Amino acid sequence: MTKKALVSGITGQDGSYLAELLLSKGYEVYGIIRRSSSFNTKRIEHIYHDPKLKLEYGDLTDATRLRELVLDIKPDEVYNLGAQSHVRVSFDEPVYTVDTVAMGCLNLLEAIRRLDNKPRFYQASSSEMYGLVQETPQKETTPFHPRSPYSCAKVFAFWQTVNYRESYDLFGCNGILFNHESPRRGETFVTRKITRAAGRIKMGLQDKLYLGNLDAKRDWGFAGDYVEARWLMLQQDKPDDYVVATGETHSVREFLDEVFGCLDLDWHKYVEIDPRYFRPAEVDLLLGDSTKARKVLNWEPKTTFKALAKMMTEADLELAKDEAVLKAHR
Ligand code: NAP
Ligand code: GDD
Repeated sequence: MTKKALVSGITGQDGSYLAELLLSKGYEVYGIIRRSSSFNTKRIEHIYHDPKLKLEYGDLTDATRLRELVLDIKPDEVYNLGAQSHVRVSFDEPVYTVDTVAMGCLNLLEAIRRLDNKPRFYQASSSEMYGLVQETPQKETTPFHPRSPYSCAKVFAFWQTVNYRESYDLFGCNGILFNHESPRRGETFVTRKITRAAGRIKMGLQDKLYLGNLDAKRDWGFAGDYVEARWLMLQQDKPDDYVVATGETHSVREFLDEVFGCLDLDWHKYVEIDPRYFRPAEVDLLLGDSTKARKVLNWEPKTTFKALAKMMTEADLELAKDEAVLKAHR
């Protein structure tokens, strides 16, 4: 029988890659989208007309609607990827962030817990939960020390997922994913902000790039590699929590070196520091140990840091070229 998956956050970076993967595996994919005054389906445009993709309006803060969707669709698997996912923004909008990230997860768990055939549940947990890291590298047993409203909300959602697993026999898994990027990454996250600006600088469309803390280090992987791990978690005999990471860490500076290097540019000539991009509390270093996922799920990342930087740089150079052509014809 055709499996059904319900995905929150389908219009986001990860949702788009997950939808592609599930469709390729023959799933019927139900995506929750928010009503917006402008189009928010750009990342799923290429699969929009696939008859197995069905989009339903909903919001993680609307518990009634989530319950209705779950009752109507009766999914086999639920992937909770929806979130106000920007760490810096969560300091400006802590209550809204908690509403979507923490309460959104709880709303979905409540929507499914009374069903006779409970769907398997995936919670998009985050390496940000390690925050002020208590050990390096970070693994499943490393204590959390969240450093932002966003990561405090993610810790709540993590433990609710564990709690529902232990209390209601729910097949709930947390994927603790370290940063993952792609040409579909939101343009205000640091990697994409850099590749987008570098392409535009190369094409003469921009002459400055304003950034915050260049010393922060992240374990950056490719989003396209990480969706498979999410799916694999829900195909196991037992529910569990897994770290998904590359096992390498690099600074923002090193990412700048790679990207501007690809374009034969010296970033020092263009980058300026704007204190607006500093955070009230910073996460200085993240480095993941994904031994468990590698052993149990037989998962491993395929894309190196260099390859990721090159892929994103090339994609954004193409965008900048298109923009330059449009500008020339205006
Ligand atoms: P993203 O690109 O920011 O996408 C977020 C998605 O959530 C979008 O589809 C957005 O809809 C939707 N959304 C936001 N608020 C919502 C609400 N109130 N109700 C319903 N949907 C809502 O994030 P991402 O990078 O794909 O990340 C996916 C998930 O993984 C998030 O939960 C994130 O916190 C988590 N995560 C990400 C990373 C990473 O490095 N990317 C690492 C660890 C964990 P619109 O398109 O309408 O805005
Ligand atoms: N966004 C941004 N903009 N970050 C900057 C900038 C800038 O101009 N300049 C320096 N940084 C630094 C940030 O201070 C942070 O230390 C690092 O670059 C990465 O920032 P982001 O790309 O915004 O990602 P993040 O690590 O805060 O959060 C992302 O990864 C988490 C997983 O660890 C998001 O995708 C979260 O949703 C996710 O949970």
